[in-house]
Amino acid sequence: MIRLARPDEVATIQRIEAEAAKRFWGLGLIDHALGDVTPAEDLLAAIADDRVWVLTVDDVPVGYAAATAEDGFGYLQEMDVLPEFGRRGFGRQLVEHVCRWARGIGYDSLLLTTFRNVPWNGPFYERLGFEPVERSEWTPAMAHICRHEKDEMRLPWDARAFYRKRLDVSSS
Ligand SMILES: CC(C)(COP(=O)(O)OP(=O)(O)OC[C@H]1O[C@@H](n2cnc3c(N)ncnc32)[C@H](O)[C@@H]1OP(=O)(O)O)[C@@H](O)C(=O)NCCC(=O)NCCS
Repeated sequence: MIRLARPDEVATIQRIEAEAAKRFWGLGLIDHALGDVTPAEDLLAAIADDRVWVLTVDDVPVGYAAATAEDGFGYLQEMDVLPEFGRRGFGRQLVEHVCRWARGIGYDSLLLTTFRNVPWNGPFYERLGFEPVERSEWTPAMAHICRHEKDEMRLPWDARAFYRKRLDVSSS
């Protein structure tokens, strides 16, 4: 089941994020930032804005997604599933849920940033209908997201890319 997250679930969500990040151990991509999680105040603001969802099993959150409404597109900001609940289709369900949210507020595309060559990143999203976005297509909002990831989150952008899924607004 997927539902909106509650403010009292912030610590649980941060734990899911930290546990999920352990999949990256040893890949040399985010080893320096493995303990980093989304700050509680950012999560609380997004929860208050109805932009954070948890996927629950027996009413316990085991995965979550957070999105933002950008200038011209919905943006899947973060998505994590506990490793012990991975590869059961929960990530796909969360992505589909966020696609419905973006469509519901009138966006014709959902974007995200991810590592191109990590199996559960670029190739996973491509299987869900996302395509890499050429740098020549970037909007100012996308350039801002890239700068934030480079400067604040210290992510190696040479290994990352924007991906976009076109949404059928007429079917929402
Ligand atoms: C991305 C993530 C949320 C997907 O969650 P999930 O519940 O496992 O997703 P699904 O079960 O719907 O699909 C997983 C797919 O990822 C790929 N994948 C995952 N782990 C993999 C591995 N070790 N080797 C190869 N492919 C893998 C496969 O395509 C897999 O589908 P399959 O099981 O049918 O082969 C989860 O892997 C995660 O939390 N990763 C760490 C954080 C992260 O990378 N977040 C996304 C940032 S953009």
